[in-house]
Amino acid sequence: MLIRTGRDGFQHPAGSEITPQAVYEDRRRMLQWMATGAAGAALASWAGREAFAQAARPGKLAALPGAKSNVAGAATMEKLTDYKDATTYNNFYEFGTDKADPAQNAHTLKPNPWTVEIEGLVKKPGKYALEDLLKLSAQEERVYRLRCVEGWSMVIPWVGYSLSNLVNRVEPMGNAKYIEFLSQADPKTMPFVGSRVLDWPYAEGLRMEEAMHPLTLLTFGMYGEVLPNQNGAPVRLVVPWKYGFKSAKSIVKIRFVEKEPRTAWNKAAANEYGFYSNVNPNVDHPRWSQATERRIGEDGLFAKKRKTLMFNGYEAQVGQLYAGMDLKKNY
Ligand code: MTE
Repeated sequence: MLIRTGRDGFQHPAGSEITPQAVYEDRRRMLQWMATGAAGAALASWAGREAFAQAARPGKLAALPGAKSNVAGAATMEKLTDYKDATTYNNFYEFGTDKADPAQNAHTLKPNPWTVEIEGLVKKPGKYALEDLLKLSAQEERVYRLRCVEGWSMVIPWVGYSLSNLVNRVEPMGNAKYIEFLSQADPKTMPFVGSRVLDWPYAEGLRMEEAMHPLTLLTFGMYGEVLPNQNGAPVRLVVPWKYGFKSAKSIVKIRFVEKEPRTAWNKAAANEYGFYSNVNPNVDHPRWSQATERRIGEDGLFAKKRKTLMFNGYEAQVGQLYAGMDLKKNY
């Protein structure tokens, strides 16, 4: 981008950078007030209100509140990504390959009524209506990072419950070693289903221990409301220590299987997308370094990239799932 400077090279501050008189005086009063020592308690309550304001409902869709989760989220103290950014910069290839496409096109998705079919190696297979799935366990709000393989990340307050609640309910058989997740693939409502970019339906998979890990969230909402279509309504997965593509959207089928299932991205380019796809700054994607990431919403000219953390910052919780594994081979 071209930046215009004055003749002497001096850059005039933009209007927004000049502090208006009233704001300046307010600040001065605030500093004087703090100097009196009376500010401590008031500041604490102000900080509390800030944290609350951060997670305030956007007021766009039906409310889906969740009690603060006990399951630790490493991102809980980070600034949340703006709702607008999280809902207009998406990957949902059923609606187009451009980041802006899903927000524009996904209005045709019909998240209601919705059923999820559970099949394969379980004692209790069957079809679950969305309403029943929603009630199966209490909704929790968890702030997780989502780190995309393309090198960007977001911090989002997701609403859902640990997938293990559902898995336990359907009673997997002893030989069920993996779970396959299939997204809806309806060419009538999803304009890019049928395009050659992926083999439809979008498919993802987890090893049983990964699916049972308490961090793995069966997700029905975000920012205190039901999921917007473009983010995978009405039910998706969020697996916070794996690259974003493992978090399948608009799930219609959950299949318990014995052998490692093929996944959509693995079928499309096996040398680029392995089954595990754990966030790992030490193992580069053939086309992109994975050492750093750009936080969406921090894209100013001088915004620094952040260092990507092992397992996206969830190493303490999930590292033991991969003890002894060669993570370069099992990428
Ligand atoms: N699920 C389906 N069904 N189709 C997709 O194209 N994209 C994946 C994942 N789940 C995708 C999907 C990718 S690449 C990412 S990074 C995340 O969804 C993006 O989730 P978000 O749009 O909510 O940020």
